[in-house]
Amino acid sequence: MNYRILKTVKTKGQANIAFIKYWGQRNKNLVLPYNDSFSMNLSNCYTLVTIQLLENKEIKELFIKDWKSKRYKKDKGKALEKVVRFYQRAKKFLKLDRDYGLRVYSEINFPRQAGIASSASFFSGLALGLVTLFEKKISERDLSVLARLSGSGSACRSIPDGFVWWFKGKGDDIGSSYAKSIFPFDYWDLVDMVLILGFKKKETTSQSGHQGAVSSPLFKYRLLSLQERIKKMKKAFSIKDFFLFGSLLEEETVSLHSVMMTQRPPLYYWSGKTIEIIKEIILLRQLGIAAYYTIDAGENIHLICQKKDKDKIYDYFSHKKEVKEIIVNYPGKGARILTID
Ligand code: PMV
Repeated sequence: MNYRILKTVKTKGQANIAFIKYWGQRNKNLVLPYNDSFSMNLSNCYTLVTIQLLENKEIKELFIKDWKSKRYKKDKGKALEKVVRFYQRAKKFLKLDRDYGLRVYSEINFPRQAGIASSASFFSGLALGLVTLFEKKISERDLSVLARLSGSGSACRSIPDGFVWWFKGKGDDIGSSYAKSIFPFDYWDLVDMVLILGFKKKETTSQSGHQGAVSSPLFKYRLLSLQERIKKMKKAFSIKDFFLFGSLLEEETVSLHSVMMTQRPPLYYWSGKTIEIIKEIILLRQLGIAAYYTIDAGENIHLICQKKDKDKIYDYFSHKKEVKEIIVNYPGKGARILTID
């Protein structure tokens, strides 16, 4: 077998946490959402993605080094399938006619598939890596469109820096739904403390969860109520009103999970520990410490606070039996290239 490596690129793709969530796809194939969403890149949750372009087009391989694992494991299942599908899609998007072999190494520094946007961090790095390998000059906007087409739509929000808006776009226009930074990462010193309550991978992927969203009787109401919430969220951000922001964040989280729990089949991502910690966060607020929660597709909690309160909140939760580990994140940059050989 010919294993000749033509080129190697290493990238870093950040995870992001959504303040206004994406749930449901109006077009599954084009990965078009029903609503705009808004997120912050996470400085300390990322995936290092090394991509080798090989002469032998028969080779398509994926190796994954999980959080706290010492070695790479070869993946032959669904993750590899997703990578190969995305590679074919990227070739089409970038108008490449030649096929190449591909070997991808993914090294993740946080738990995978546990509600911390591992797919977004991986696919943003992979999209940037492929564009770099093929020496295609495309705009950040188009790169975000490509990342969206990975199937993990929120990967588009991990392309630009800082606080990022994902526009839902118009109709079935593939390029009108893209992500853009609306505030730089140093705009507001927010902290996302990821409180890890469990390492279990979620049973239902977001991919299949999105398909069921419309079956919830609450979905229509969610879309309607989002109009007002989005307006208020923009205002809270523009005037840096942390209390308004925090209350909208929690309202949004409960709206998302109410849809999840009432769709068919229902999705219960929260565990008993999730509820216990939510109550603790509310209690902290009653004691005058400003902390708010948000949760994606997993039991783990993203606690959002301001930098000035970080140490005391960290100290408080590091002593709780439900909390296995804490990852402290600041607003981060988007996907970037580390090396090209
Ligand atoms: O981009 P996906 O398909 O991994 O879906 C992300 C879904 C949520 O994390 C629940 C919400 C969001 O906007 O990140």
